[in-house]
Amino acid sequence: MYSYKVFSLSSSVFMNKKTKFQLLFFHHHNFTTSFSDAMLLTLAFSPHFPQTQCCNFVPGNGFQVERGLEFDTGGAFYRRESATGRDLGVLAASLQKKVNGSLRVLDALCGCGIRSARYLKEAEADFVAANDGNECYGKTIVDNLSRVCVKEEEKWVVTHLEANRVMTDYYVEKSFFDFIDIDSFGSDSSFLRSAINTLKYGGLLYVTSTDGFSSGGHRPHHSLAAYGAYVRPMPYSNEIGLRMLIGGVVREAALLGYHITPLFSYYAYHGPVFRVLLRLNRGKLHDSRHYGFIGHCHQCGNSHEFSWDQLGRMSCSCSVSKVSNSLKVSGPLWTGPLHDAAYLMDMLDLAKQWGWIGCDGKDSLEKLIKLMVDESDPRLPFGFINLDEMASRAKINTPPLKTLMSAMHEKGYAASRSHITSNAIKTNCSMTEFIKIAKELQQVSV
Ligand SMILES: C[S@@+](CC[C@H](N)C(=O)[O-])C[C@H]1O[C@@H](n2cnc3c(N)ncnc32)[C@H](O)[C@@H]1O
Ligand SMILES: [Zn+2]
Repeated sequence: MYSYKVFSLSSSVFMNKKTKFQLLFFHHHNFTTSFSDAMLLTLAFSPHFPQTQCCNFVPGNGFQVERGLEFDTGGAFYRRESATGRDLGVLAASLQKKVNGSLRVLDALCGCGIRSARYLKEAEADFVAANDGNECYGKTIVDNLSRVCVKEEEKWVVTHLEANRVMTDYYVEKSFFDFIDIDSFGSDSSFLRSAINTLKYGGLLYVTSTDGFSSGGHRPHHSLAAYGAYVRPMPYSNEIGLRMLIGGVVREAALLGYHITPLFSYYAYHGPVFRVLLRLNRGKLHDSRHYGFIGHCHQCGNSHEFSWDQLGRMSCSCSVSKVSNSLKVSGPLWTGPLHDAAYLMDMLDLAKQWGWIGCDGKDSLEKLIKLMVDESDPRLPFGFINLDEMASRAKINTPPLKTLMSAMHEKGYAASRSHITSNAIKTNCSMTEFIKIAKELQQVSV
């Protein structure tokens, strides 16, 4: 797809450690785009990379249709499975326009420009800045946006700058945005500061991590560098991934004198992709509520939240010694709500008005948003209990999930399903108590 010159450079002296990682990463996740995308971008923004322009790039003919909008992927990185994440973003952007009366969107890593096109068409953005570092996608992006509205209307611009550069340029010009979408690879927390600077007060930041290794606790030093959180393996690691990402933004926002409110948090298995939508609020919070440590005890299976003033005093009640070796602690992370239920209901209403509900089968947007609403019960803490883990600890067969949830509700516990995994329950009931309830249901002696 790219010229021989670029390939030959990337495969020789310029292949640094990061490039090698990305190659492995892309290989591992079997992305539809060839390795060359990852290589080219990593190299293009490396200080060692001579600024070559790709010359043999020919836009592909990968025509796709999303929510009735036809566009060309042009050989850019595009995943059909990410359409749900785009749906959620477009609904939120549209709500922002309804509240503010106008909408300026910055799509900082736009790929073929499908998000930008949808923000223009569906959310009726007044202006969209579509940026992708890869110049080779230029014609594709322009063609896709031109199909929505002609260039002369001046409702969009296309640039090919490094994402931090484009955001900083707008910030320096005091040209702020209502909605910034950062759809990056890996754990690109380096974009957070310039994004926060470039957002209006009350604006929305839609950020991504695809770093399943870090959320899984397999690269604690990496998560520490990227998000300021030392993450260890936990049974609900994909929820930890969302909390790690939000926590990273909390930290950057506090540094700049702001605080954030999560409006929704979305984990998708493909990728994996962690996406969170956050509102930026003026002023620092002077307490660290919702930003602390999460501990999981592998001996009894119970989870605990620890605040900063409990550092050095973390233990699990199942352990006789004061320091529990069985306790794995991760943090600091966001420990507060993952979603705002009222906001999600507004998104659902809008999706209904747009005819998006009841037309997409089993894995529907409606089902997803309703699950998120259920997860927003303020009584529910972080994490979830995986039914297989419970069954193996209890040495019983798992009762049906619905039966378990009804039994928990009867006993006065909060319990909901999780959008992250189907075989789990989010609850304020401890593992110890949960096992008792399950055994009673199976009529096994407790
Ligand atoms: C995940 S893809 C974007 C997909 C697109 N948003 C969509 O929904 O189809 C990430 C894009 O970021 C671009 N990119 C990677 N690093 C970048 C950087 N530092 N600055 C600007 N663009 C970058 C890549 O060329 C790639 O097109
Ligand atoms: Zn314990």
